[in-house]
Amino acid sequence: MKKVMLVFGTRPEAIKMCPLVNELKMRKGIQTLVCVTGQHRQMLDQVLTNFSVVPDYDLSIMKQGQTLFDITTNIMERIRAVLEEVKPDVVLVHGDTSTTFVTALACFYLQIPVGHVEAGLRTYNIYSPYPEEFNRQAVGIISKYNFAPTALAAQHLIQEGKDPSTIYVTGNTVIDAMQHTVQPNYNHPELDWVGDGKLIFITAHRRENLGEPMHHMFRAIRRVFNEHPECKAVYPIHMNPIVREAAEAELGDCDQVHIIEPMEVFDCHNFEARCHLCLTDSGGIQEECPSYGRPVLVMRDTTERPEGVDAGTLRIVGTDEEVIYKNFKELLENQGLYDAMSHACNPYGDGHACKRIADILEFGTYEPWVAK
Ligand code: UD1
Ligand code: UDP
Repeated sequence: MKKVMLVFGTRPEAIKMCPLVNELKMRKGIQTLVCVTGQHRQMLDQVLTNFSVVPDYDLSIMKQGQTLFDITTNIMERIRAVLEEVKPDVVLVHGDTSTTFVTALACFYLQIPVGHVEAGLRTYNIYSPYPEEFNRQAVGIISKYNFAPTALAAQHLIQEGKDPSTIYVTGNTVIDAMQHTVQPNYNHPELDWVGDGKLIFITAHRRENLGEPMHHMFRAIRRVFNEHPECKAVYPIHMNPIVREAAEAELGDCDQVHIIEPMEVFDCHNFEARCHLCLTDSGGIQEECPSYGRPVLVMRDTTERPEGVDAGTLRIVGTDEEVIYKNFKELLENQGLYDAMSHACNPYGDGHACKRIADILEFGTYEPWVAK
């Protein structure tokens, strides 16, 4: 029986890996083990509970205000014993976090094969997003199985010289996670508060946006809100204290904005599906909102998810206050633009990515995902 260990540590990795854990656990030819690094604590545990996943190992590394050095050294120190004890046939990591990179490096040192879920996303600027672009490129050097979510991601890997026989186009597992979350008769006290107003959904957390860029983002949003009393924002805030300080300083006294604690993924998807538009620097939300036909203004200078831009639902607006202000205002005031951006499409998957990845690991064959 093939021993597969999944290692992840942050909220988005958990949202995208837990459906895969549950699929692999149903496979007769696979023994599935889960190790969490605990790079996130509360935000990780929330997702584990939602998907009823109980880790076999927990490295519990999170500390307040952790630096990239802290995360890297603490995982490196603690994961070795787990890998040496379990001796997995393959370790699956996800995407581009420090958990992902350090785990892959530890596997390389122990010569354990790595499978990279969500492989091949690229901006080709290692400082944007930072440090994620470096992390995913580095894992790409090490990985034996490359589960690319889209044809474009696979193309990047081929152009970089990866052996095509190691690249599989599976769709993104986040679309699998979304299959059962959005409910037609969903309700929530925050939706009652929004009432007939326009729900603006906000999230922000990127490391390269901490400090001045984040203040610019929030100031731009505040200016538009002053001109648009019909807008009401729900902003489930990241637990990073630096994000909280900036949001409190710029938006804390605005009664059109409700800053709330991180949402359960079920609630988050239902809010995404119901919002008028979304302002975010998140990676995962860029993949989720297009399915619901909700326009997204991406407050970043680059994206590794251009499929949603090409499909017309995402617009990159950077972190300059004036540019965000103009784009946000335009999207509220120009109905033609809003209509053009609000059509549902699914450039990131069909909800069967986990089955494909499990088929590859169990049988060595699969039916590739082809976008319609
Ligand atoms: C990390 C990932 C980023 C991913 C993001 C998802 C890296 C370098 N960054 O960034 O790619 O987009 O997760 O959210 O891997 N905190 C808590 N409780 C939690 C989670 C975080 O208190 O459950 C606080 C801690 O003070 C922590 C800080 O948030 O020090 C930042 O967490 P960290 O994992 O270092 O970075 P993120 O910005 O979350
Ligand atoms: N998300 C959530 N609760 C929240 C905010 C986000 O469950 O309060 C989900 C969201 O639906 C998406 C993922 O978390 O699936 C995105 O995580 P995040 O933005 O933290 O990280 P990124 O995707 O940028 O790495």
